Amino acid sequence: MKGTRIMKQKMGTNNNPILWVTIIMLSTCLCAPITNAKYIKYKDPRQALNTRISDLMGRMTLEEKIGQMTQIERSVASTKVMNKYFIGSVLSGGGSVPAKKASPETWIKMVNQFQSGSLSTRLGIPMIYGIDAVHGHNNVYKATIFPHNVGLGATRDPQLVKRIGAATALEVRATGIPYVFAPCIAVCRDPRWGRCYESYSEDPKIVQEMTQIIPGLQGDLPHNAKGVPFVGGQSKVAACAKHYVGDGGTTKGINENNTVIDYHGLLSIHMPGYYNAIINGVSTIMVSYSSWNGLKMHANYNLITGFLKNKLKFRGFVISDWQGIDRITSPAHANYSYSVHAGIHAGIDMIMVPYNYTEFIDELTLQVKKNLIPMTRIDDAVRRILRVKFQMGLFEHPLADTSLIHQLGSQEHRELAREAVRKSLVLLKNGKSPYKPMLPLSKKAPKILVAGSHADNLGYQCGGWTIEWQGLSGNDLTQGTTILTAIKKTVDPKTNVVYKANPNQKYIKSNKFSYAIVVVGEPSYAETQGDSLNLTIASPGYNTIKNVCGSVKCVVVVVSGRPVVIEPYVSKMDALVAAWLPGTEGQGVADVLFGDYGFTGKLSRTWFKSVDQLPMNVGDRHYDPLFPFGFGLTTKPTKGY
Ligand code: BGC
Ligand code: BGC
Repeated sequence: MKGTRIMKQKMGTNNNPILWVTIIMLSTCLCAPITNAKYIKYKDPRQALNTRISDLMGRMTLEEKIGQMTQIERSVASTKVMNKYFIGSVLSGGGSVPAKKASPETWIKMVNQFQSGSLSTRLGIPMIYGIDAVHGHNNVYKATIFPHNVGLGATRDPQLVKRIGAATALEVRATGIPYVFAPCIAVCRDPRWGRCYESYSEDPKIVQEMTQIIPGLQGDLPHNAKGVPFVGGQSKVAACAKHYVGDGGTTKGINENNTVIDYHGLLSIHMPGYYNAIINGVSTIMVSYSSWNGLKMHANYNLITGFLKNKLKFRGFVISDWQGIDRITSPAHANYSYSVHAGIHAGIDMIMVPYNYTEFIDELTLQVKKNLIPMTRIDDAVRRILRVKFQMGLFEHPLADTSLIHQLGSQEHRELAREAVRKSLVLLKNGKSPYKPMLPLSKKAPKILVAGSHADNLGYQCGGWTIEWQGLSGNDLTQGTTILTAIKKTVDPKTNVVYKANPNQKYIKSNKFSYAIVVVGEPSYAETQGDSLNLTIASPGYNTIKNVCGSVKCVVVVVSGRPVVIEPYVSKMDALVAAWLPGTEGQGVADVLFGDYGFTGKLSRTWFKSVDQLPMNVGDRHYDPLFPFGFGLTTKPTKGY
């Protein structure tokens, strides 16, 4: 157009044909980049990150921007929906899979299908697919399941946790997924909380150290990029520190409840992990359902925008929790307009809607059009989302291929998980007198008894967030080694291993067992379903302990997401081991019980005598635990470390 106008002007005053040709050539050449759209700046990876973001944002409509801010669940996603609403992100909720026991190829196909819908939009902005990979790629069949965070805290080994992050990234990428909702950097201050196992420790320092998982998941930050969101290529994933902030501090550990603490307490206990997460380049941060002193975190402008974005200079994007904005009002969704306004105003950039996306999109669009939410707020959100997508190379590599599928549940990763299990075990008692230790156990005993509800239950061993959101019971949920199988593999081939879940005393006494291994603990649970005021183990666990330990020399192995009531039974036991939620590699438990490796784990939590002492944390003035924070006996390895 511009060229034609120039030509017309010139035509009136000049008839020189040579000049004409020159003008036409010049104008075509000037206009080509605009009219033919051959060169698109934001698509050019040689351009600076900010140039690409600004160029793309300059082309986006309000509709396209709000689409970027919308995350929907895979069960409501389709190529068409992605395309029509410009959806910026899709997630798998807990247990949400394309098919039961789906192969990595099936996962990749699904993710790529959604992606093709996004790529065929006008601007072709890729969506980002996210999933909870909180102890390995836990929704996926045959993935390596690592110990839950409470056990990793007991290892005191941030480099191990970093390696676990790198292995998890590979397994997640094996299924075509570039984004995980992990790590949970909650500081659980009360084990009655159903998510306590997702927390590395009650001690903020340990949680800070364990943020090493972030460079494991995302890759090492380049030296000049401290504190900048960073994902190092196609074998790494974007991480998400959660749940900001104070999720582990709620009264009586009630999930999603109120954390009552002064500003100093918030900053010194619940915030430190976020400093390290940001320094380590975390790409995203998820907001907590919980409230701080009565104000919902999802509506907390001062902590999200004021502190996280302005003060800490976090440059990645802030994501809501699942229906997190709905829950700003009580009952949830009671006043959705208010929820949308409060959440977006507070500074949340991406909304995990995850089902009623048209309602969210319509509401937010209306509020922007009415100037209730300024365009600058929308632009801040979109800029952050695009920054992460550009930086991680999603524009250049939006579609996954099958080159990493062999990584899923690989032998190498299982060995790593087994090492983590070994290092996470905490030995709480060894022998009725310190001079007569029971452990390590003899591999050559003629006949041993294995008892308890958790000895041969892979599902319980893995805990919540495994295949299903709430976890499962039994052995066919995925591939792995139960503690019973591991024991059988470890002892001498001539040793007779007898398994009985809940044997009675008569039976035990009439058999000549050299000793017994009792494996008991909690059933699987996640989130609110795990909230517990009594912290007891699953029945008939105490009975099993009484019967077995009353009849034969016994070691009790507790499989649980947290310290549980264990008194008045400790005196009856010869040895006691906290195994936490070890995951699929039960062999790690046998490795240490039988002395191939020594016990090294230290409690990352205080073990209470009775629940009426709770909350009780290291450093408290009245501290009278059964086993203090940091406690853990050692044994000499006969091989290993
Ligand atoms: C949990 C988050 C999780 C999200 C997606 C929520 O219920 O609180 O930790 O990332 O669901 O599954
Ligand atoms: C969980 C999701 C899960 C859903 C099931 C949410 O609170 O975080 O991951 O799929 O509930 O209803």
